[in-house]
Amino acid sequence: MLAKAHSYTVKGQQFRTPEQARELSLLLPRLFLQFFSGTSLILKDDAGIRAFLVGFHAADNDDEAYIHFVGVDPRLRGQGMARRLYAEFFRRAAMAGRTEIRAITSPRNAGSIAFHRAMGFAVEEGDREVGGVPVRSDYDGPGQDRVCFHLKIAE
Ligand SMILES: CC(C)(COP(=O)(O)OP(=O)(O)OC[C@H]1O[C@@H](n2cnc3c(N)ncnc32)[C@H](O)[C@@H]1OP(=O)(O)O)[C@@H](O)C(=O)NCCC(=O)NCCS
Repeated sequence: MLAKAHSYTVKGQQFRTPEQARELSLLLPRLFLQFFSGTSLILKDDAGIRAFLVGFHAADNDDEAYIHFVGVDPRLRGQGMARRLYAEFFRRAAMAGRTEIRAITSPRNAGSIAFHRAMGFAVEEGDREVGGVPVRSDYDGPGQDRVCFHLKIAE
């Protein structure tokens, strides 16, 4: 049996353990595709969907928008696809009067942390640090620590 999941690297490519892959797939129940398609984005070509972003504008205030999940075909990473999706989400959020973007990720997802920093997000204060990154313990329930990102955009 696999112990606590850690991704592993083969020939420079990072792979997820089955446990990590399951964790990620649980983030995408059907409701996100049913009720948030108007603010979500996909990039596709003749071969099908290559990258997607699931996000929405907060229902509880007029300022915030939230990016729940972004995914890029592993064969196409490092080519600016996620950056394009984020830029388009920011543009549409700003058009709708939103001024703040939020997102979270797991402290184990080093790629996502690096990506969000590259996109200009600040990491919000935490109650501890993992590898120098502020982390909020039990943010999503017991043992479900998260790194919280925040970005101000121009209206
Ligand atoms: C994270 C992810 C969406 C990045 O997609 P991508 O298309 O490869 O990212 P981009 O090519 O647009 O990169 C944009 C910037 O982020 C940086 N970046 C992206 N992935 C990175 C990584 N793993 N390590 C370091 N930097 C990274 C790039 O260097 C780039 O910076 P630059 O423009 O200053 O050069 C992609 O790796 C992915 O689908 N991961 C699996 C799903 C996931 O973990 N999603 C996030 C949690 S919701």
